[in-house]
Amino acid sequence: MGSSLSSCCGSDKVDEGFINYGDHSSWRIFTYKELCTATNNFSEENKLGEGGFGSVYWGKTADGLQIAVKKLKAMNSKAEMEFAVEVEVLGRVRHKNLLGLRGYCAGTDHRLIVYDYMPNLSLLSHLHGQFAGEVQLDWKRRMNIILGSAEGLKYLHHEVTPHIIHRDIKASNVLLDSDFEPLVADFGFAKLIPDGVSHMTTRVKGTLGYLAPEYAMWGKVSDSCDVYSFGILMLELITGRKPIEKLPGGIKRSITEWAEPYIAKGRFKDLVDPRLRGNFNEAQLRRTIDAAALCVQSEPERRPNMKEVVGMLMGAVEEEKVVMMRQLRIESVKYGDELMELDQGSDDDDDGGGGGGGRRRTIDDESNNNYGVFGEMEVQKMRDPYMNHGERRMVLHG
Ligand SMILES: Nc1ncnc2c1ncn2[C@@H]1O[C@H](COP(=O)(O)OP(=O)(O)OP(=O)(O)O)[C@@H](O)[C@H]1O
Ligand SMILES: [Mg+2]
Repeated sequence: MGSSLSSCCGSDKVDEGFINYGDHSSWRIFTYKELCTATNNFSEENKLGEGGFGSVYWGKTADGLQIAVKKLKAMNSKAEMEFAVEVEVLGRVRHKNLLGLRGYCAGTDHRLIVYDYMPNLSLLSHLHGQFAGEVQLDWKRRMNIILGSAEGLKYLHHEVTPHIIHRDIKASNVLLDSDFEPLVADFGFAKLIPDGVSHMTTRVKGTLGYLAPEYAMWGKVSDSCDVYSFGILMLELITGRKPIEKLPGGIKRSITEWAEPYIAKGRFKDLVDPRLRGNFNEAQLRRTIDAAALCVQSEPERRPNMKEVVGMLMGAVEEEKVVMMRQLRIESVKYGDELMELDQGSDDDDDGGGGGGGRRRTIDDESNNNYGVFGEMEVQKMRDPYMNHGERRMVLHG
């Protein structure tokens, strides 16, 4: 499969025809023309939003399939091989809670990824965006979203070979199908960064609230970074709050900073999103907060892995062990003020998950070498955001 893809890439020939990959034949190559027709020439009305890699458009194929087409920003020739490899690996990933590939299109000038369209859009749109007022996410759905996303991440970390670290777990990357089943999206394209642009730096700015401290500060990547982000996502789903919120007067506060006193005092009910009007299951609440509190600890070694998180969420971990873990927990991280200043995600730029994607600044940076997705990388090359400002540290809450 790899050879057929790589020999095609860089040639318009790849725009034509179908490839049958046995078990993975459910995805295929689309022609550019076909995607233009499906998306009404990538018209503004079809635009679902915009992210770090380009714009996403709704479309419908000739055989009636609703699709979401991600049109990547201009690519260079070096990225073509990477694109082929990434697509190949992604094409192998199959899990009910992961948004796999429906196909792609790779001509001389374009790189497009085709996914199934998710009719209930993103979690972000329901928590903080266009559907926030409708409260379609009742407790049961929220718990199902947490467990399903956890299962998807567990698969990425522990079951697929080579294992995959997502690195961008957040509400806009959890999509919801017509039954509100969660599908984690965007687990494979972090590598596709145009020359001269550091998506890394952009990410640090754009989605700071989800970033594990060791990743935000030193670019240290491990599956534990995903665990941290997932902990934030769980808190977000339970509380209905944003990962970082802007208080009157411009001060920014992270969700962990807000939640920590309640968690420390065991006042779990006070954490629940008031939009749920008290309709929640106490045992599930306790389990989820226990899991979330462990995930958002500042030291990666202290966080559980995704297998353990799923076990905790399902109530499969003995109560005694949970009590012990609770006692051993140290407080969660509080970002330092300087790092908080870098955040742009909490400004009034909610994309609603279904449109007007969050704008991101792109910054020139030579650190996009080795920006791989697959496999564990010990140290990510990135610019230390503090480098020019003397020594600044992230402070622990308390
Ligand atoms: N398959 C899909 N079905 C429905 N909406 C989608 C689909 N894929 C993406 N979207 C929506 O399109 C918008 C843009 O997505 P995109 O992934 O490009 O950006 P993002 O999630 O905001 O950031 P990132 O680049 O870090 O993933 C988001 O609101 C996302 O929820
Ligand atoms: Mg996304």
